Amino acid sequence: MKFKVTVVGAGFVGATTAQRVFETGYADVVLVDIVEGKPQGIALDMLESGPVIGTDAQINGANTYEDTADSDVVVVTAGLPRKPGMSRDDLLLTNMKIVGSVTEEVAKYSPNAILIVVSNPLDAMVQHAYKVSGFPKERVIGMAGILDTARFRTFLSQELGASVTNVSAYVLGGHGDTMVPLIGSTTVGGVPVAKLIEANRLEEIVQRTRDGGAEIVALLKTGSAYYAPSAAVAQMVEAVLLDRKEILPCAAFLEGEYGINGLYAGVPVKLGAKGIEEIIEVELTDPEAAALQASADSVQELVDIMAKA
Ligand code: NAI
Ligand code: 2OP
Repeated sequence: MKFKVTVVGAGFVGATTAQRVFETGYADVVLVDIVEGKPQGIALDMLESGPVIGTDAQINGANTYEDTADSDVVVVTAGLPRKPGMSRDDLLLTNMKIVGSVTEEVAKYSPNAILIVVSNPLDAMVQHAYKVSGFPKERVIGMAGILDTARFRTFLSQELGASVTNVSAYVLGGHGDTMVPLIGSTTVGGVPVAKLIEANRLEEIVQRTRDGGAEIVALLKTGSAYYAPSAAVAQMVEAVLLDRKEILPCAAFLEGEYGINGLYAGVPVKLGAKGIEEIIEVELTDPEAAALQASADSVQELVDIMAKA
């Protein structure tokens, strides 16, 4: 059975996500953007790669939502990315309007879809999409934790000269300066990382992870990261479409889990055909639990600003 995936926002993250999903061959893709011609041009270009890569999947571009009807998964990347010197939070009210209007259309045409939100500031945007969509919490998920964790795993692998596949880690909390890498449960080849890297150096790696998005913004100067983000989104899309029951760090609406109530935060979840099928409560040290609460508090501040807007 061929699935249908819509990607809203044909910018860097949206286009590379569409490409990754299209190239798997198991889903037809609709790419939507407000700029006339942009999603159509990108989609046609990708479609013409089909004979070379050997896929019969379809991909179409659109400026309206009729073609997106009955999508299984909708990925929302519409919005502004940050520029050097900007924080993700600087995008709050502009992207809130964009994500709100996109979500209304998506919910109208694909009422049973699973919604994956990517636009920044991520935790506030996914909270807004949850509210606007009226979807159950299981079907509105934010992408950030896989990306933040991938950065942490990359840096640890570089430090130790070990394969990234041997580095097991979680970065939880909000997608911002207050994200929470769980040092206590990070292992390399099964060995706790704290036994392999001395504390000061580990703290530098944690800080580089927190600044991972900004490091790339500073290098690119005109936009933000998209290869690792789109890889993370594609992993979520695949977990849902193929019902993989994969445990991944994602932004989920919490109702008491980890002592957080009524708010999105990055936690390990089981992703499958129903969306978030379980929130996994891993044991945290006291400092990790306090850091997760502080991270949730900073997300709450953004949610409060949105409520007054
Ligand atoms: P981009 O500027 O390349 O693309 C954004 C696209 O959204 C543009 O093509 C624009 O025309 C489109 N757009 C704007 N308003 C729209 C609307 N109402 N309807 C449909 N399309 C609309 O930006 P990029 O790099 O693709 O990033 C997209 C968003 O994802 C940004 O907010 C960025 O901060 C965020 N992001 C989040 C990450 C995460 O970990 N959650 C990682 C990377 C990016
Ligand atoms: C990132 O972390 C910009 O949120 C985006 O790269």
